[in-house]
Amino acid sequence: MATLANHRLLAGRDPAIPLSENTHLLRWVEKMAHLTKPEAIHWVDGSAQEYDALCSLLVEAGTFVRLNQELWPGCFLARSDASDVARVEDRTFICSLSKEAAGPTNNWMDPYQMRRRLKGLFNGSMRGRTMYVLPYSMGPVGGPMSQIGVQLTDSPYVVVNMRIMARIGLAVFKEIDKDYKRVVPCMHSVGMPLAPGQADVAWPCNSEKYIVHFPETREIWSYGSGYGGNALLGKKCFALRIASNIARDEGWMAEHMLIVGVEDPRGQKTYIAAAFPSACGKTNLAMLIPPKGFEGWKVWTVGDDIAWIKPDANGELRAINPEAGFFGVAPGTSAKTNPNAMATLKRNTIFTNTALTPDGGVWWEGMTDNPPAECLDWRGKPWTARIAKSTGATAAHPNARFTAPAKQCPTIDPEWENPEGVPISAIVFGGRRATTMPLIYQAFNWSAGVYSGATMGSETTAAAAGQVGRVRRDPMAMLPFCGYHMGDYLRHWIRMQRSLTVTPRIFHVNWFRKDENGKFLWPGFSENMRVLQWIVDRAHGRAQGRETPIGWMPGYDDFEWQGLEFSRERFEELQAFHRSEWRAEVIGHEELFIDIHDHIPPEMIYERELLICRL
Ligand code: OXD
Ligand code: MN
Repeated sequence: MATLANHRLLAGRDPAIPLSENTHLLRWVEKMAHLTKPEAIHWVDGSAQEYDALCSLLVEAGTFVRLNQELWPGCFLARSDASDVARVEDRTFICSLSKEAAGPTNNWMDPYQMRRRLKGLFNGSMRGRTMYVLPYSMGPVGGPMSQIGVQLTDSPYVVVNMRIMARIGLAVFKEIDKDYKRVVPCMHSVGMPLAPGQADVAWPCNSEKYIVHFPETREIWSYGSGYGGNALLGKKCFALRIASNIARDEGWMAEHMLIVGVEDPRGQKTYIAAAFPSACGKTNLAMLIPPKGFEGWKVWTVGDDIAWIKPDANGELRAINPEAGFFGVAPGTSAKTNPNAMATLKRNTIFTNTALTPDGGVWWEGMTDNPPAECLDWRGKPWTARIAKSTGATAAHPNARFTAPAKQCPTIDPEWENPEGVPISAIVFGGRRATTMPLIYQAFNWSAGVYSGATMGSETTAAAAGQVGRVRRDPMAMLPFCGYHMGDYLRHWIRMQRSLTVTPRIFHVNWFRKDENGKFLWPGFSENMRVLQWIVDRAHGRAQGRETPIGWMPGYDDFEWQGLEFSRERFEELQAFHRSEWRAEVIGHEELFIDIHDHIPPEMIYERELLICRL
């Protein structure tokens, strides 16, 4: 087992020495150390040397397996505890002063009561461990749209993942020293203190979990989990739940959206932001390679999960990706489905809960046509296709992830770190729906578009703990991520139009519609380029569309079909609008509207009435 002393030596400096002079920060760290009682404090400088030392520490602790460095340079595999594999939405709380402010779609608890509970849980929770003081910037350091957090954590796994997912370390401390007011304090403990002499486990965590947000004081407290969105607090907790509160107050939007730039053969680039629920292919769309027939077109990646969108001085929306890495779902990712992701994760990547192959590489379902003859599954147990057949066990966990630096993506947009963001011309909403929803339609206008996003439904996936495959209403794919009342959030969307001189066009897509035999109607993946082209052309007022009761739709001849055999009949089936299905759909919208009725903006009621009239 590595000791703290040799870790210090490896890091080349004494990590106990504070890296900030800010007295507020120093006092807070001291107070939190007093509460959590760690054995040591490590101020994170964010250097490569420190990263390497922490990775070595994790290898020695058994949390990491160093992969075959010839095949997977700079890559590691982590196996989590079997009980700590996904975001825990039922343990996620928005503790605003009033229950009303959190709204019915969030768990709420009285903030005073919650603080008392958290103080109890965090009391001594870091005993025997090191507390890392991890400063991070969401967005380029010092950028006008960027925000700063400091996470105190007892998980070195979190520190190394955060170094990929955000900008961390010295440069951020320097920003904090300039202006402390902007910092969001983030407390994180895996909740497994060590008694003197007690041996650690590879993945410490606690069966009791709390992911807590205090929106008024802009604070995050996370206890009991080391996994993903529960523990990498810059991502869902800050960049969506807390940031959605800041955004509402300041007149911008924090959204669960990818951002891509679509470049046409003349070199004109059109940026699109798109919201899809977790594990519905955002990363694939963000890294799309145009298919045959689209020579001269290029899709550039700005972000795959989160967009901060703000009107500029001219009233045009501009967006940044606040993250610096991809925390992508591994299963299903392959050289066929997403070659750019495969190229991105070939080096300097942390894999979590994938399988380990005998040659020291990783594997997951869908990565290759044939599984390896044998491997160790995500729990470290022997796995073969035969075992899988008899037990149903998958080699990788369905929510296995890769944490990879965004700059390694072959299609990363030259503008992806522009601190002022990129201009957004179109917004796309999409869910995973076997029926009802056509491949693509364009909303009639902003408020109809907001309605289509607000009433978005999707079948649930493995990204969150719970039942998979049930249709749930997921407004703007923000149901698990909106840090305040969902009705007020929709009101904010409606109100945003007032600050715009150029309003982006709004579209709704569904890659997942099935035929009567349960087969997907649309090939998806790179063929989605055909849909993107129509979106881009519509955004510039160039493409034809026909009016239907739900919006504007392309006809068969409005799509580019070169390179794909796809019959007119199948396209009609894919785009079909069935009145009876839509009647049921509108009744389904009621489910959400009843929940948030007392905060719903009147525009949503009008849009619903209009839709009913058109049906
Ligand atoms: C994610 C998620 O990890 O949405 O991006 O769960
Ligand atoms: Mn996501």
